[in-house]
Amino acid sequence: MIKIKLGKNEKPILNPEDFYFIQKLLRTMRNPKTKFNSKEFVKKGDDYLFNYVDKNVGGIDEGRRKFLKGLVIGIGVVTVAGIIPGLKVLVPPNVSAVSAFPKSLLVDSSGSPIAASKIPVNSPIITIYEYPLTGEPNFLLNLGDSSGNPVKVPASTVTVPQTGDKYTFPGGVGPNNSIVSYSAICQHLGCKPPYIHFYPPNYVNSAQLSAPEPDTLTAQALAAAKSANVPALIHCDCHGSTYDPYHGAQPLTGPTVRPLPTTVLEWDSSTDYLYALGSIGVAIYPEGANGVPSKDPTADLGSSFGSSVGDKTEVTQPENPFTSS
Ligand code: FES
Repeated sequence: MIKIKLGKNEKPILNPEDFYFIQKLLRTMRNPKTKFNSKEFVKKGDDYLFNYVDKNVGGIDEGRRKFLKGLVIGIGVVTVAGIIPGLKVLVPPNVSAVSAFPKSLLVDSSGSPIAASKIPVNSPIITIYEYPLTGEPNFLLNLGDSSGNPVKVPASTVTVPQTGDKYTFPGGVGPNNSIVSYSAICQHLGCKPPYIHFYPPNYVNSAQLSAPEPDTLTAQALAAAKSANVPALIHCDCHGSTYDPYHGAQPLTGPTVRPLPTTVLEWDSSTDYLYALGSIGVAIYPEGANGVPSKDPTADLGSSFGSSVGDKTEVTQPENPFTSS
């Protein structure tokens, strides 16, 4: 049973299926393409909410209607702006190391393996691949210092602010131990690239404060980068969550309360090829047939939430948010 904190009291009110339904709903609400209209909700009430869920998330049967209605009433709010802070304190599933995903070779659009030594250092271009399911993007980053030299990324301990749980980020791979990979799904409300992306060192500056969307840093992100002494960031332009790519995508600024899950890479030094092996972090992906992860994540790989990418996955550069590059 998932618990929710209301004030000082912790109440068991959600079963896992409802928890994952709500997570999916919140991601959808914050997606610019399916953005939830709070004003319409205040005006039309439950009907707007039910229609919205039916159209954008699906599965709105009588039980789901009751659940949503109960949730709104239970939290004591009448607007979605009030629902979201209440849901932020939901206790997530345990942090776990997931190693049972298929081993997947990273290839380019012609099917040739990506050469690790050719990945540009500090590239501002979004470089992603889907793993372990189709539709689940992951960053592929070659990290460098302010002068553009690759830097060795050592193993580090990552703490999940929401729960205090810890896990070990294994560090970078490749010829300079500088290549890292993380889920590109923001752990706040699920924004994906181009709204969440990598800011190389020469983009972590005050000029980004007034850059056109979606490549705008926040003042808090700049201050956090300075205080953590990291030259580059992963930043989500939806609501300002900032992650430290040198230390396991640990959050530097909220509203996220969870790191980006690490996608474990293996580098074959004899071929220079890269493979995705699995994930480490808060275990919310992949989702099972009912939106609930199975204990064995490989059992979810054929679910309606996506299909397994299999033994090869294509690295793409779908969109570049930086107008100046
Ligand atoms: S989805 Fe809210 S900060 Fe990323």
